[in-house]
Amino acid sequence: MSGASDPGLWDAEAPGFDSAPDHGLLDPEVRAAWRDLLLGVLPSSPADVVDLGCGTGTLAVLLAEHGFAVDAVDFSPAMVRLASAKVAAASAPVRRLVTVRTGDAADPGLAPASVDVVLCRHVLWALPDPALAVRRWVGALRPGGRLVLVEGDWSTGAGLTAERCAEIVGESCASVEVRHLPDPRLWGREITDERYLVVAHA
Ligand SMILES: C[S@@+](CC[C@H](N)C(=O)[O-])C[C@H]1O[C@@H](n2cnc3c(N)ncnc32)[C@H](O)[C@@H]1O
Repeated sequence: MSGASDPGLWDAEAPGFDSAPDHGLLDPEVRAAWRDLLLGVLPSSPADVVDLGCGTGTLAVLLAEHGFAVDAVDFSPAMVRLASAKVAAASAPVRRLVTVRTGDAADPGLAPASVDVVLCRHVLWALPDPALAVRRWVGALRPGGRLVLVEGDWSTGAGLTAERCAEIVGESCASVEVRHLPDPRLWGREITDERYLVVAHA
């Protein structure tokens, strides 16, 4: 394996990962922007969310703070360690609601119709066969469940355009909504590249 599909690359990213404003959500204003965005597209809690490619567990903890049960999955041992530490340092209710495990986001071993939400931020672009992964994720949704993706076509040259992402998701979902995310409060700065949210239903 090489590049973004190599857990070793993400292990190397893990120690400094949370220093990006949108990763660690350490700035209360950035955290509030992500809370409002995500709560605006998720069902009411309680609900079961799987966070695929959870990184350091920031979104998993954020959602558990709002009553969601989160199965947080990542293939990078260093990311899993940091996510586990973040959960361990959280309040008792959050600790009860989040599990962190090692696994492949592309094939996370979810039972059919077992979750209300598949959440995946900044990971689909890195998967070798994103269409196959989305098909598996959609199969894990309960009736009425939703896929919530955050992706981008970043100035670094990495990523997926919104158009391509909607096409991939549209292969498995009857409804696909793309919302562009230019708001600097989400990123801690002005951005010029394409960043977006996708909400899809089977
Ligand atoms: C850009 S980070 C995003 C982390 C987190 N979703 C967030 O938004 O803060 C990408 C994460 O996806 C993980 N990842 C990439 N490919 C993966 C795969 N096939 N299975 C599991 N995790 C994967 C990496 O280890 C890394 O933690």
